[in-house]
Amino acid sequence: MTSTSPASIPVQVHLTDADIDAALVADVRAGLTASPKHLPPKWFYDARGSELFEEITALPEYYPTRTERGVLEAAADEIVAATGVVTLVELGSGSSEKTRLLLDAGLRAGTLETYVPQDVSISALQGAVDELSAAYPSLAVEGIVSDFSDLSVSIPDRPGRTVAFLGGTLGNLTPAERAGFLTGIADVLRPGEHLLIGVGLVVDESLVVPAYDDAQGVTAAFNKNVLSVIDGRLDADFDPDGFDHVAIWDAENEWIEMRLRAQRPMTVRVADLDLEVEFTEGEEMRTEISAKFRRDGISEELAAAGFDITRIWTDSDERFAVVLSTRR
Ligand code: AVJ
Repeated sequence: MTSTSPASIPVQVHLTDADIDAALVADVRAGLTASPKHLPPKWFYDARGSELFEEITALPEYYPTRTERGVLEAAADEIVAATGVVTLVELGSGSSEKTRLLLDAGLRAGTLETYVPQDVSISALQGAVDELSAAYPSLAVEGIVSDFSDLSVSIPDRPGRTVAFLGGTLGNLTPAERAGFLTGIADVLRPGEHLLIGVGLVVDESLVVPAYDDAQGVTAAFNKNVLSVIDGRLDADFDPDGFDHVAIWDAENEWIEMRLRAQRPMTVRVADLDLEVEFTEGEEMRTEISAKFRRDGISEELAAAGFDITRIWTDSDERFAVVLSTRR
């Protein structure tokens, strides 16, 4: 007996494997030859890394995902009422799991017509587009594969847009990168259109550090996985087990910094870059910042980029905020 699988819904692809390889090459060369060394967090998310991140979201210590979900659950109808959303564009949509709360509310209200999920990963996006198209027959779903910073592609011209950027991913950008990113979104939007962002709030160090350094070591495995990604894609010989996971709270910058610390002196060869890099014993390489925000700080950043705050929703413990702003 033959089984037929439903045809995939078309998605627009604005990013080729060659583009992704070129970006990886540039990032790894720049990061490994810098002092101190660093790698950008975007390369965590191969299939294994995405799986590990999903595991992280279920850890008792990692409160952001479930807290954001609770905030969205309580706020979804109000968000839809405040925006009158016709087109929901979601940057970095991944599995679109939490977004269903907004889609349900938008369809209930009767304003929502189109959902535009955008992601760098075709595999994550195609699955979400197929599932959502089946689950929401009255909704137009237009998937876009692109680099989210390519904003004129990632945010197509449609009526009545609300752009969502959830999950706290804004915190992975440096303050300068955030300013450029938020201004870029403002440049694409028309006055009166909306930006909805999810951000972790500044909480006690004793709460935030374990969220990034869990007892089961899942975050450690997630962190080290970036070395396996580089080994696999650039023919490098990193020994991921030769590094220790480090998560520290930077109280001045109010961000969590994840690092990988070399346990011993090592020479790492990256064959595809024709590059050899030395690590000294104890040398630390930054792999991620995850900034946490205060109401005033995020409001100022949005105002500087051209947005007025419409409303901020948080959980009762003020651990996570969903911030709705309007293009001035
Ligand atoms: C998916 C980027 C929001 O910064 O909290 C989880 C990634 N890093 N544990 C975050 C992450 C370590 C996560 N974001």
